[in-house]
Amino acid sequence: MAGIVIRGGTVVTSSDQFVADVYCEGGVIRAVGKDVEVPAGTQVVDASGQYVLPGGIDAHTHMELPFMGTVSADDFYTGTAAGVAGGTTTIIDFIIPNRNQSLLEARDFWMNNAKKSVADYAFHMAVTWFGDQVKREMEHVYRHDGIQSFKIFMAYTGAIGVDDRELVGVLDTAHALGALVTSHCEHGEAVVALQNRLYERGLTEPRWHAKSRPSYVEGEATNRVIQLARAAGEGRNGHDAHPHEAQPIYIVHLTAKESMDAVYRARAEGQRVLVETCPQYLLLDDSVYDKPDFEGAAYVMSPPIRPKGHQDYLWNALSAGQIQHVATDHCPFRQADQKVAGRHDFRKIPNGAAGIEDRLKLLYTYGVATGRITLQQFVDVTSTQAAKIFNLYPRKGAIQPGSDADLVLYDPRGTGTISAKTHHQNVDRNIFEGFETKGKVATTIVAGRVQWHDGDLRVERGAGRYLKRT
Ligand code: URP
Ligand code: ZN
Ligand code: ZN
Repeated sequence: MAGIVIRGGTVVTSSDQFVADVYCEGGVIRAVGKDVEVPAGTQVVDASGQYVLPGGIDAHTHMELPFMGTVSADDFYTGTAAGVAGGTTTIIDFIIPNRNQSLLEARDFWMNNAKKSVADYAFHMAVTWFGDQVKREMEHVYRHDGIQSFKIFMAYTGAIGVDDRELVGVLDTAHALGALVTSHCEHGEAVVALQNRLYERGLTEPRWHAKSRPSYVEGEATNRVIQLARAAGEGRNGHDAHPHEAQPIYIVHLTAKESMDAVYRARAEGQRVLVETCPQYLLLDDSVYDKPDFEGAAYVMSPPIRPKGHQDYLWNALSAGQIQHVATDHCPFRQADQKVAGRHDFRKIPNGAAGIEDRLKLLYTYGVATGRITLQQFVDVTSTQAAKIFNLYPRKGAIQPGSDADLVLYDPRGTGTISAKTHHQNVDRNIFEGFETKGKVATTIVAGRVQWHDGDLRVERGAGRYLKRT
């Protein structure tokens, strides 16, 4: 395959910005500089007036996830294709075994499903139960399969959620391996108690989903996992462990002030805690649950969209560099035949929504264009930090010789309006319906090949590669 050169764009990295050409060949960036000389036959893309960004990395997706009696509506093909249309060129999805299922069996299932991806992918391994077998299998996937991050759900009690004994077991095992633990933080038992109390009072509509999972329930679990992470570091070196010896924790989809405060406290003591949030928690408030005709169900996700006030707290944390990654938790369910399972019982509405296609333009519009974050921060939280945290850097998340040729040409002159009518996500609602956006993803290049240009999607089923992390 002939090479490709992107001429005259403004290259933006997490630390820099300069006008340069980017020459790629064999799926890899070969040169970055002024007036780069290229062989005859090289494809030329004019990027003048555009930003050239490292391809977006979404470290939190759920493609074709079996969940709550159904399966999330985007498979690895449609979901990664929608990602490419939105400037995301790498995903990290979650292998989620059933309680008592072998981690290796679940790994095989997810690896097989992911073969249809159009973009590169890696995995986190969720640990949904614990015992000697799980411990051995955690070690196996860490050492042999390049799965270096584990996931625990402190919610979803009775399904994929872990109890405190299991949680401690996972933290200890990950600490011994040197792996990262990512955590969905909500007090599962408290949620079940609140859900049942509300339902028994005849409160069945989508809005009660949010009421059954208040922010303090998330704050408690965030604080708990952070504190228990310290126990995982204790008793290993013959001295009282310092907080920096605790098991590092990455909090997924953080939504609430209480949770951020728990993170600030731990960091002030020297503990390593990383934070991810998602555009919906920055841009929506809980009035979405008041929409009539069951439309609130489209926003049923966990944790829920928060009351006004939390959003600004998160934006402040993001601008101050206290949030490392903005992912999507992309997990779509159709309103017509999936969300409807909870028409008369909010507890049965499949939890999740789509977002992979809109992440970059939302963050650019409401972050960069409003002055809340810089262009460099934009690149950092949508790409570079995720690559660093999850051991994909500098193959991903960078524009430098040797990095994969995954690039986004972002045109700040474009405008758009988000809608389910025009998106590529395989779902009948868009939780950002009607949001105006500034700038647009003009071109997405994956492994040196243009896969999205000017509204034209040219993805290749199965072209994505598994990223074995080392
Ligand atoms: O509601 C959500 N977030 N669904 C996907 C599973 C999870 O908790 O991330
Ligand atoms: Zn979650
Ligand atoms: Zn998730």
